[in-house]
Amino acid sequence: MIRISNLVKHFGDVEAVRGVSLDVPQGAFLVLVGPSGCGKSTMLRMLAGLETPSGGTIAFDGALVSDGERHWTVEAAKRNAGLVFQSYALWPHMTVAGNVDWPLKVAKWGTEQRRDRVQQVLDLLAIGDLAERFPNEISGGQQQRVAIARMIAPQPGILLFDEPLSNLDAKLRVEMRSELLKIHRATGATSVYVTHDQVEAMTMASHVAVMNHGLVEQFGSPETLVAEPATAFVATFLGTPPNNLIAVEPDDGGARFAGCRLPTRRTVDRPVSFMYRAEDLKLAEAANGETLALEFAEASPIAGRYMVTGTLGETRLTAVVDSPPRLLPGDTVHFRVPGEPAAVFAQSGERLAQDHPADHPEDRSVRGWAL
Ligand SMILES: Nc1ncnc2c1ncn2[C@@H]1O[C@H](COP(=O)(O)OP(=O)(O)OP(=O)(O)O)[C@@H](O)[C@H]1O
Ligand SMILES: [Mg+2]
Repeated sequence: MIRISNLVKHFGDVEAVRGVSLDVPQGAFLVLVGPSGCGKSTMLRMLAGLETPSGGTIAFDGALVSDGERHWTVEAAKRNAGLVFQSYALWPHMTVAGNVDWPLKVAKWGTEQRRDRVQQVLDLLAIGDLAERFPNEISGGQQQRVAIARMIAPQPGILLFDEPLSNLDAKLRVEMRSELLKIHRATGATSVYVTHDQVEAMTMASHVAVMNHGLVEQFGSPETLVAEPATAFVATFLGTPPNNLIAVEPDDGGARFAGCRLPTRRTVDRPVSFMYRAEDLKLAEAANGETLALEFAEASPIAGRYMVTGTLGETRLTAVVDSPPRLLPGDTVHFRVPGEPAAVFAQSGERLAQDHPADHPEDRSVRGWAL
């Protein structure tokens, strides 16, 4: 189990990580996801022991390994955690087998044990036949596998990955994703995997932490994050396509956007954002009082259906529909929203709770969102 408590990291004036607390269960596959610069690599480097936190603590299996208050950290080589970077450097003068053997030599494994273990991990990564080649004699994807083999060889209890697949082509990425999950299962190690690719996050994770500006906005299972996003940021970061947000103005207790009343039974008394799922937006043939007129931007096929995007000023809405609209970019596209938004967010980004139990959705006299 990894326990991260109130973790902070400053680089001079830059607050890269601003107070993160997470409990990662034994054997979990945690994905840290978030936009560029949000602090993912810094988190991982602190877990690996390559950076000392400015505040807060990290414990592995109940034992403290980093303490920011005391400026103390167990060094990388001594904390039973293996790390693979995006730019993994293999030792060019060593063969594939030599690269994988090196950390075992450093850890003072016996000769026979080392030979067996190298063979075992090369086989696990399906690169046994490359053992005697040098790094410049194998492909980028194969080098990636060697880097992973080298990491798992000494059997670390924790596997840390920093965007390990970002150098690979799309097809290889998909293959390597399942390979990595296989390795994760085979080793039983707790894994922390950094990516800014939300598809990777959603397909691989048992747990996801969505980071933004040095903070974790939400931590949970991929299913929970999609079904119940806690903030507007999470709602629009995850999902394919992500959820739609519309900034609405209060209008006599209702919600107004672009001159249109958006249907809701709730009372709206301040500017908020309505969230709609892409599959809940419909296309309408023509304008009527209940449709939004947007400028058609694009349509693209997705799993036998079509993703249709329209824009109106800053607002960008995407619907998933069965057949593509016969429109050209610049044409007007009419979207119809469902009877209620799937969620409502305050301007601060926080999700607003319903002020009545959701188990009476048919009750039309409900009072509205707790604003
Ligand atoms: N050694 C450093 N010195 C100064 N600032 C740093 C240092 N390392 C990281 N930062 C800053 O800390 C912030 C977080 O960086 P970090 O590398 O953790 O982001 P990231 O989420 O991994 O981004 P990316 O997806 O682009 O890799 C950034 O603003 C970055 O510029
Ligand atoms: Mg990074």
